[in-house]
Amino acid sequence: MGYHRDVTRTLPAGGVAEVVISDDATAKDFDVRLPDDEERAVARFATTQLRARARAARTLLRLVAASYLGCDPAEVPIRRAACAFCGGEHGKPVVGTAPMHANLSHAGSAVAVAVASAEVGVDIELPERTGDVVRLASRFFSPDETAWVADAVEVERDLRFLRLWVRKEALLKATGEGISGGLASVGMLDPLPARLERPTGSLSFWTVADLPASVPAVGAVALSGERLEVRIVSLEELGLS
Ligand SMILES: CC(C)(COP(=O)(O)OP(=O)(O)OC[C@H]1O[C@@H](n2cnc3c(N)ncnc32)[C@H](O)[C@@H]1OP(=O)(O)O)[C@@H](O)C(=O)NCCC(=O)NCCS
Repeated sequence: MGYHRDVTRTLPAGGVAEVVISDDATAKDFDVRLPDDEERAVARFATTQLRARARAARTLLRLVAASYLGCDPAEVPIRRAACAFCGGEHGKPVVGTAPMHANLSHAGSAVAVAVASAEVGVDIELPERTGDVVRLASRFFSPDETAWVADAVEVERDLRFLRLWVRKEALLKATGEGISGGLASVGMLDPLPARLERPTGSLSFWTVADLPASVPAVGAVALSGERLEVRIVSLEELGLS
């Protein structure tokens, strides 16, 4: 495994988000040394599995961002924005330098990184049994959305629940609010891409789209602005193999 520093990728144009997904990121060894503070953060996870996942996610985020910035992965600047609720330094990670924006999601051993030239959010979940999804939907979603989940055969219910969940979480990650922003507060029934007004700071229009069925997870992306085309970019295209 390795990466080629000679590949510098052009940032996506407005209205486009590029998404890199590795379905087995924890199994890869890219030979990247994380900055000391991130190594310490990784070491604090309780199990080998959690540490491997945390390191894989941070490594892939840095590798992807570096391939757009044309720098060494260890030199990608990452800081935390102020929390949208308390102002503390644990808000949305600010990755790279303007005009680049990036966001990360992990699920199991899969990691997804979205890159755009505007505020972006991504969320992935693995398509597995989630329990009583109608009860969960009634807790977290609107009555219309809960009815849409309930109005399906059992196996399709799980998928509908996850679809709504990732759309909502992608939007709330794009705005930086996180799920404290209220999953019920953003309506996410079809058709997508959905254009939504959400009065968060000076950016109020957002577009949400599903990741294509070809990717090995249920996922969605949200981008600031009124247009969104999602492009899946392979690790090979970024010079990562
Ligand atoms: C961000 C959040 C949605 C992540 O949910 P998740 O399903 O567990 O995780 P995902 O794999 O999709 O995303 C995790 C990544 O999102 C990014 N992230 C963290 N906070 C974020 C935020 N506020 N907005 C956008 N992205 C965020 C990080 O890169 C994180 O990776 P890390 O865990 O390796 O650091 C959830 O943890 C959350 O809502 N946090 C905010 C909690 C909050 O508001 N607290 C208020 C305290 S005053």
